[in-house]
Amino acid sequence: PLPEPFGVPLPIPQVARPVSQEGGVDRFEVEQRKAAVEILPGLQTTVWGYDGTFPGPTFIAQGGRTALVTVRNSLPVPTSTHLHGGVTPPDSDGYPTDLVLPVGSDPDAPESNWTPDTAHGMHVAPEDWTLHAGEKTYEYPLRQRAATLWYHDHRMDFSAPQVWRGLAGFFLVRDEEEQGLPLPQGERDIPLMICDRAFEEDGSFRYPSLDPSLSGEPGVESDYHSGVLGDVQLVNGAPWPVLDVTTTRYRFRLLNASNARRYQLTLEADGRRVGPIVQIGSDVGLLERPVSHDTITMAPAERFDVVVDFSQFPVDTRVNLVNTLEDGAMRQVMQFRVARRAQDDSSVPDRLLAEPVRVARSQSVRERTFDFRLTNEGGHEMWTVNGRPFSTGDSWANPRLDTVELWRFSSDFHHPVHLHLAHFQVISRNGEAPEPTDAGWKDTVDVRPYEVVEVLARFAGHKGRYMMHCHNLEHEDMAMMANFHVE
Ligand code: C2O
Ligand code: CU
Repeated sequence: PLPEPFGVPLPIPQVARPVSQEGGVDRFEVEQRKAAVEILPGLQTTVWGYDGTFPGPTFIAQGGRTALVTVRNSLPVPTSTHLHGGVTPPDSDGYPTDLVLPVGSDPDAPESNWTPDTAHGMHVAPEDWTLHAGEKTYEYPLRQRAATLWYHDHRMDFSAPQVWRGLAGFFLVRDEEEQGLPLPQGERDIPLMICDRAFEEDGSFRYPSLDPSLSGEPGVESDYHSGVLGDVQLVNGAPWPVLDVTTTRYRFRLLNASNARRYQLTLEADGRRVGPIVQIGSDVGLLERPVSHDTITMAPAERFDVVVDFSQFPVDTRVNLVNTLEDGAMRQVMQFRVARRAQDDSSVPDRLLAEPVRVARSQSVRERTFDFRLTNEGGHEMWTVNGRPFSTGDSWANPRLDTVELWRFSSDFHHPVHLHLAHFQVISRNGEAPEPTDAGWKDTVDVRPYEVVEVLARFAGHKGRYMMHCHNLEHEDMAMMANFHVE
């Protein structure tokens, strides 16, 4: 039986404490390990979590300071950690074949089966594996603005099941400009990791892996090639939770951390739509100006930084966050219960950025088109970019450092397209103006069936090999990835 909605309080992920802070560098340590946690009332679920928690700890870092994060892998399989939205040097970017092996395993042991030439038509040459024994220190220079980033596993062929088991968390970048704004803060600045999961009777996660040990054949059963959905809605790892709020503004950092589920989020009280949801930030930072929405469509990996003002509601009002793409239990996401009155000295200023970075079509030095589609090769279905399954040695584009290019994404299905390193702005959908929810600098864009989306991408920060891919994690594991080399 599914749990009663709104029966458990919203958990807030713990904040990671730096082990040292010296000379512009903050050091963190985190351990990937199994832990038994109670997600469904009365049952135990084994999660694979950063520090054994799901979501993992929230890292809070300051733009302009370097964060060094040592990830120790106490799981039985390799991992790779990607800071999603980070402007990160290539050897710390969590490339899928840059693996941290389980503690105690020997990267030189010939019997190690962690370096297959892989499945789904994807190819990895033996020399393209980089293996770290037990741990790796990722370097994040964070020369970027305040933003809601997140981190998650990115292991070749196995990102989807490993994220499903819990390997994901928030990474917040702050900066002085943002801290100088009168936005809600402290207990009224809340990250919300929204994702769905399915469970077995005994409380364990249900996921249709071909090999649940995640050390043999990758992939999911063929009924799930379009993506794996759950029938339990989680927020911060709890099913349909409730949060007591006061009659004040709250800042919510919405993240869709689902493998494949899309949301169309709206607020309802007494069965009526209420609102608005005021967007202040997109994937990689604050907007120039706030934008009010009735609903927010959110594809996997997208973030919406929003403010909701509960002062419009009498005490005891129940305000539900709902997903209007669904009926029944999955229509509900979580509930806010207006518990008491309180003073509010926060506000949402009309201008959020003093010096916004703007980009215009005329700055583009080159146009490229990437078609995200299902390909059938010799009876094998796979998701590809321009008809070519991913291969580590292959390159789909070679933009030059410090240039802007116009990239055009077309698709046969819903594909949330994500670029590592490069941030972009959406400039058109099917030749029309972008939608209000496309505003701002982004790293992921929801490309809908038979749509053509144009973005202006800035290649800045680092040279080297990066990737773009579909962030439907099952599609990603089934070859829908492409390298680009910044030169
Ligand atoms: Cu959030 Cu390459 O991914
Ligand atoms: Cu896809």
